[in-house]
Amino acid sequence: MNILIVDDEKMQRDMLKGFLVKQGYEVTSAENGQNAMDLFLQQPFQLVILDHKMPDMNGDELFAKIKEINPLIHAIMITAYGSVDTAVEVMKMGADDFMEKPVDLLQVLDKIRMIEQRIITQKEADDVAEIIENQALPIKIAGNSQAVKDVLSLVQRLAPTPWAVLIRGETGTGKELIARLVHLLSNVNEGPFIEINCGAVPENLFESELFGHEKGAFTGAASARKGRFELADNGTIFLDEIGELPLNLQPKLLRAIQEKRISRVGSEKDIDINVRIVAATNRELRLMAEQGLFREDLFFRLNVFEIEIPPLRDRKEDIPILVDFFLDRFSPRKVSFDPDAMSTLMKYTFPGNVRELEHIIQRTITLVRGSVITSRDLPLEIRYHQVSQQGTLSQRLEALEKELIISALEKYEWVQTKAADSLGISERVLRYKMKKNKIKNLSAVLWKL
Ligand SMILES: Nc1ncnc2c1ncn2[C@@H]1O[C@H](COP(=O)(O)OP(=O)(O)OP(=O)(O)O)[C@@H](O)[C@H]1O
Ligand SMILES: [Mg+2]
Repeated sequence: MNILIVDDEKMQRDMLKGFLVKQGYEVTSAENGQNAMDLFLQQPFQLVILDHKMPDMNGDELFAKIKEINPLIHAIMITAYGSVDTAVEVMKMGADDFMEKPVDLLQVLDKIRMIEQRIITQKEADDVAEIIENQALPIKIAGNSQAVKDVLSLVQRLAPTPWAVLIRGETGTGKELIARLVHLLSNVNEGPFIEINCGAVPENLFESELFGHEKGAFTGAASARKGRFELADNGTIFLDEIGELPLNLQPKLLRAIQEKRISRVGSEKDIDINVRIVAATNRELRLMAEQGLFREDLFFRLNVFEIEIPPLRDRKEDIPILVDFFLDRFSPRKVSFDPDAMSTLMKYTFPGNVRELEHIIQRTITLVRGSVITSRDLPLEIRYHQVSQQGTLSQRLEALEKELIISALEKYEWVQTKAADSLGISERVLRYKMKKNKIKNLSAVLWKL
């Protein structure tokens, strides 16, 4: 276990650190809140032991910040003797435990062991809870956060109705997965699930794609063809990226939905269709409707129910479960993330959401040799992400410089002439910068960074 001690009193800090190191823990200490934040952003920790009363940033404040970055972090707060109120507050904030001053070392050890035990039991409980909750679902949706539970419960309630569903969420959050789940839990689940990506169809082919065409309806229409609506009859049509549907085509879609009837391009004949409409978008469709960029009447037709899937960075508790899920899926052998690697992953913000996590796991597994994935095996952008997202301009520039240098060195297998060349600097300057940035050798540097 990797432990961070934050205390402004040097004696207390050193004593605690010395004791815990002797017990075999990896311990780092910080003398104030800012210092602690810097360290926390750079290294993976599983437990923080913090003094509640510090001059620059008190323990509460620091803990709140740390928890925001990694919600799985464990904490023990050290409070003044007899301040029961503070202790209660601290526990309410989600600390695992508190200790009164003066700190009793054996008591600390007891508390740490309890937290270690809790980490193990929590993981087992999560695994079980996840299995039970997903048992009834026809496809696997990994996740244990309240957000995922809310989405799943909503899906279960609205899937059997005949009404249209609009799924909103950033790219890679699982919109298509949820659309398929709505279909599988619906009353038309025996029928087809037909998808059309409104962002990918050329405008002049759209109508024919949606509604089909008769032979000779336009140049190139050599034979009659069914459109997606007809193919989806008695099933579900999934209108993906609905926000990209051109305005001039929107009345036609509206009519199809309203009247449950379509006609193929080049034909006068109406065809009755019975389809469940599920649409998805990563855009603010309501806002687009208000601004006249999307037809309001169509918006209301599509948005009878709305399912919002939050981005992964707002439900980081799901990361460990998703990791296990993808490891199972992609790895032919048993591999796992060590706590440091997991902690590094927890701090990343995942702009590409679950899909990005999926790709990271895929890539990492392909490259890793042993059965344990360490921080070193993770892609560069994740290892350095936190460093380059935080701090003043000069700190960030420095971090970026360091990152670029390490990247170049890694690329050229630490052959300095080649790395210097690729960076357009002399070898002497490279060596100076390596020294300044304490870049020594592959394993030592990447590990400690
Ligand atoms: N909760 C989850 N459990 C398991 N896999 C998931 C989960 N959420 C997403 N995925 C996986 O992540 C990938 C991206 O999901 P999906 O394609 O559904 O996202 P999307 O929101 O439709 O993305 P885009 O906006 O880019 O089309 C898929 O491989 C999907 O299976
Ligand atoms: Mg999609």
